[in-house]
Amino acid sequence: MSNVFVMDHPLIQHKLTLLRDKNTGSKEFREVVKEISILMAYEVTRSLPLEEVEIETPVCKTKAKVLAGRKLGVVPILRAGLGMVDGMLSLIPAAKVGHVGLYRDPETLEPVEYYCKLPADVHERELIVVDPMLATGGSANAAIQFIKDKGATNIKFVCLIAAPEGIKAVCEAHPDVDIYVASIDEKLNEHAYIIPGLGDAGDRLFGTK
Ligand code: PRP
Ligand code: URA
Repeated sequence: MSNVFVMDHPLIQHKLTLLRDKNTGSKEFREVVKEISILMAYEVTRSLPLEEVEIETPVCKTKAKVLAGRKLGVVPILRAGLGMVDGMLSLIPAAKVGHVGLYRDPETLEPVEYYCKLPADVHERELIVVDPMLATGGSANAAIQFIKDKGATNIKFVCLIAAPEGIKAVCEAHPDVDIYVASIDEKLNEHAYIIPGLGDAGDRLFGTK
């Protein structure tokens, strides 16, 4: 079964409140999404393997740890996931970036794919799929399935706000995928928006609507 990590660090919770506030404009919204993504990148990379190398400090020779060269990839679900890429890359700058384009049909609420471009060696990479919102879970499940169909086997999913329904859906469809989330909110409303949530993440990031 998926592990679900709720990242309730005070800095993350404070910044999330800024995002929820309807008076926060796009410029600040983008900046804060990036800041939270940096904090989440710190946690999602906690299990990266290390290896020992020999180095020389100004005082003596010693053995010290470095990352064991694990290949990483960040995969935003377009469009709102784009807002989380810069923050992730701040901590893991060598990661490759793939893109999965999906939108949720407002009538059926089903995800519709319009783009998919991933690193060629996706089967060798640990992939971090990012999207600020996990509502019904339809988009996340479809994106994860596309990525698996291209050969990926090592996937984590990182989002800012999830509905309990979305968590359940991803856990059931992809029990091998761990979920990192800043808040699990109360519920979905009749339009499958997260309550209390932050509204439409894509519109708030890019100033559309
Ligand atoms: C939003 C969000 C997720 C999806 C979540 O994207 O960024 O991808 O909805 O909803 P779900 O869990 O019910 O699938 P949206 O479809 O609004 O597209 P956008 O990012 O292009 O605005
Ligand atoms: N997508 C969003 O952007 N917000 C929600 O609350 C649900 C889906």
